[in-house]
Amino acid sequence: MPPLLQAQELVKRYTKGGAAAVSGISFQVERGEVFGLLGPNGAGKTTTISMLTALLVPTSGTATLAGFDVVRQPREVKKRIGLVPQELALYPTLSARDNLRFFGRLNGLSGRKLAEAVDRNLARVGLSDRGDDAIATFSGGMKRRVNIAAGLLHEPEILFLDEPTVGVDPQSRNFILDGIETLSRDGLTVIFSTHYMEEAERICRRIAVVDEGRVLALDTPAELVHSLGDGTVSVSGAVALEEPLLAALRRLPEVTSAEPREGGVLIAARQPIRILPAVIELFQSSGLPITSLEYAKPTLESVFLQLTGKRLRN
Ligand SMILES: Nc1ncnc2c1ncn2[C@@H]1O[C@H](COP(=O)(O)OP(=O)(O)OP(=O)(O)O)[C@@H](O)[C@H]1O
Ligand SMILES: [Mg+2]
Repeated sequence: MPPLLQAQELVKRYTKGGAAAVSGISFQVERGEVFGLLGPNGAGKTTTISMLTALLVPTSGTATLAGFDVVRQPREVKKRIGLVPQELALYPTLSARDNLRFFGRLNGLSGRKLAEAVDRNLARVGLSDRGDDAIATFSGGMKRRVNIAAGLLHEPEILFLDEPTVGVDPQSRNFILDGIETLSRDGLTVIFSTHYMEEAERICRRIAVVDEGRVLALDTPAELVHSLGDGTVSVSGAVALEEPLLAALRRLPEVTSAEPREGGVLIAARQPIRILPAVIELFQSSGLPITSLEYAKPTLESVFLQLTGKRLRN
């Protein structure tokens, strides 16, 4: 069977000739997968999701969902997807149930089908007992759960969640993450964006690490971490490293990469502890002071740092 979602070289420029918000993103998602778009603010996550959900026309590139083209067949695409947007759009004075009825009607549901869908999805997000309360009385996490219910009313094949846990209390956050896993076990395909590494690691089968509109790496969490070897060593010396020193560091046995960082270097290696003496010696013989030396076990955080030179959250 072909992948449920296929994105090929998607590009988006919001203004003609302007900078690309997304500059050539490609990936595929299999049916039943939980797929993560992991990246910092401005990486292009929302723009990518908007193109895949037929809300935004790509400047170039193509994407298909269940074989339907997002540009040429947006109606077929929209029928099959649910979208939980980053910005909340609920009516505060209406009850949760009335909000869901409203969204259900927008999706073409009515009568008993609508009533059943509303009850079923209120239960799914654990809010059956609060259905008749006004949204204004809900916490951020509860509102988010109502939004997720709204995205599920028409039983989509793919659910897109754009940063579903931002501004959400820890309890709702756990509820949302467990909920995604349950939905996935029931056969739903989930694509969600986040800048929380531990969330991506916890629930995604595969993760695309995105930054500045590009996919920098795409794999299972375990493989992404494994690609870093056994960890990283970061050395700070308060001065910019010259190329000969970087080259010498890269030549050390089992070093997989050595990238300059502000006032220092980040080295990834198979056995980072073993190379420490040689690293110190290279700095000393170059006459560079060392102000800090840090060993880190490989994590998705260090993968991200390695790929982008940035921390996901500052
Ligand atoms: N409507 C718009 N018009 C012009 N530029 C935009 C628009 N929306 C987003 N951008 C720009 O496109 C880039 C990608 O933004 P996008 O919202 O897709 O990132 P994101 O990964 O979702 O970020 P965040 O984590 O902050 O939600 C950013 O540089 C942003 O400023
Ligand atoms: Mg966004």
